[in-house]
Amino acid sequence: MSVTTPPSAEGPGATDAAQEALHDRIAADALTTRRDYLRIVATVSGGLAVGGVGVASGILHRHGDSDGTPEPKKVADRLPPGEAIAFRYPEQEDRAVAIRLEDGTLAGYSAVCTHLACAVLWRKDRGGEGELYCPCHEGVFDARTGEVTAGPPPRALPKVILVEETDGSVWAVGTTRSGESVEEGLCRGLVKDRPDLAERFGCPGASAGGAPERTART
Ligand code: FES
Repeated sequence: MSVTTPPSAEGPGATDAAQEALHDRIAADALTTRRDYLRIVATVSGGLAVGGVGVASGILHRHGDSDGTPEPKKVADRLPPGEAIAFRYPEQEDRAVAIRLEDGTLAGYSAVCTHLACAVLWRKDRGGEGELYCPCHEGVFDARTGEVTAGPPPRALPKVILVEETDGSVWAVGTTRSGESVEEGLCRGLVKDRPDLAERFGCPGASAGGAPERTART
């Protein structure tokens, strides 16, 4: 088992400082373009080690927001290939797991089984490139897609959207629902919290007048 727990050396003050630094960068990212957005999606989906958390957090969160999309959260200072780390996101009670596949792809998921909510574990040495395993009823999920590959779980694992900063740190910046793509998850957050950006990026459901048009995915 290669799942590790997040480093505890960083206290709340360090976390606040990191988030403040991000917020400073958010201001610098005010002119985010669709190309930036698509780059983020490509980064997340393709697992390339390209920094983008400043832009991503600028899209997904504005300083002072009290609800809506979750705050970006640092998951790890570094995540080597073949390793995974357990963390909590978006809330403290929400188990999640970040995985670095051998080809460098970053993948993040809810670690709550979609069958009966047992904890899902990373098994590095199973399957072609590792797998996510639920020991309660032998449920298995694909490490690259989160789709069910064996057992009784009825749905794929919801994703946690991860980005990697240029210093190698890994951040969680959003979530998707089960079966939702990263782009759909990002757009859902934008339509709700940043209708102006959602419209600029051409997100489905973004209204022409900038007023939020709530999505109704189930
Ligand atoms: Fe995970 Fe049943 S709770 S397979």
